[in-house]
Amino acid sequence: MRLRYVDDANEKIEAHERLLASPEQYKGKWHSLFEKDQPLYVEFGGGKGGFIIGLSEKHPEANFLTFERNAKVVYKSIAKLEEIHHDNFFIVWGDVTDVEAIFEKNSIDRIYLNFSDPWPKDRHAKRRLTHENFLNKYRKILKDGGELHFKTDNDGLFEFSVEEFKKNGWEMLFITNDLHQTEHAEDNVMTEYEEKFSKTGKNIHKLIAKNV
Ligand SMILES: C[S@@+](CC[C@H](N)C(=O)[O-])C[C@H]1O[C@@H](n2cnc3c(N)ncnc32)[C@H](O)[C@@H]1O
Repeated sequence: MRLRYVDDANEKIEAHERLLASPEQYKGKWHSLFEKDQPLYVEFGGGKGGFIIGLSEKHPEANFLTFERNAKVVYKSIAKLEEIHHDNFFIVWGDVTDVEAIFEKNSIDRIYLNFSDPWPKDRHAKRRLTHENFLNKYRKILKDGGELHFKTDNDGLFEFSVEEFKKNGWEMLFITNDLHQTEHAEDNVMTEYEEKFSKTGKNIHKLIAKNV
């Protein structure tokens, strides 16, 4: 898939030690990028990377990647990275559509989708990152028994997504319409969108589905 291009995007991203471009080149070699060989957790559609930066700091026992397809958004993460000293994560300029060219089968321990674009019109349903076409791709690259964690403020997208996971045979481990009122709130790392919507009083939905 063609990515939105910014002048010299590849060079500028490759030059930063925590940013990566051209992710296909790392297929089968992701572990070699990290200091420790430990579980690999991957977020798709990560925006400016706040979630993965926070989660990776909290969990030094895993390695983390976040994928964002908009180069301008990837650049914006640079400001956040100035104060960061841990190194078990990378922010990747890449498109989720291409995940099968980027990851080997059964190679990811967990997937995160946070506040994915809702694409509310029915004719755009296939663009939703929880559409079954995407779920089938995730299934291939996720290890057996691996989990997918999905959060959103969007009521319609959440309802659609729960059905997509169930219809496609994922085991539902956890579903809530008000994440911040559950026992999971304590461990929760907020994303940029989550901070914004929570401040307006909007409830946050979350599901955890297992690849069985
Ligand atoms: C609504 S924002 C949410 C950002 C972040 N997850 C958060 O919660 O703050 C969705 C992001 O997903 C990115 N995105 C959408 N489709 C994508 C795809 N196919 N591959 C990679 N990133 C994608 C968009 O560019 C956008 O930055």
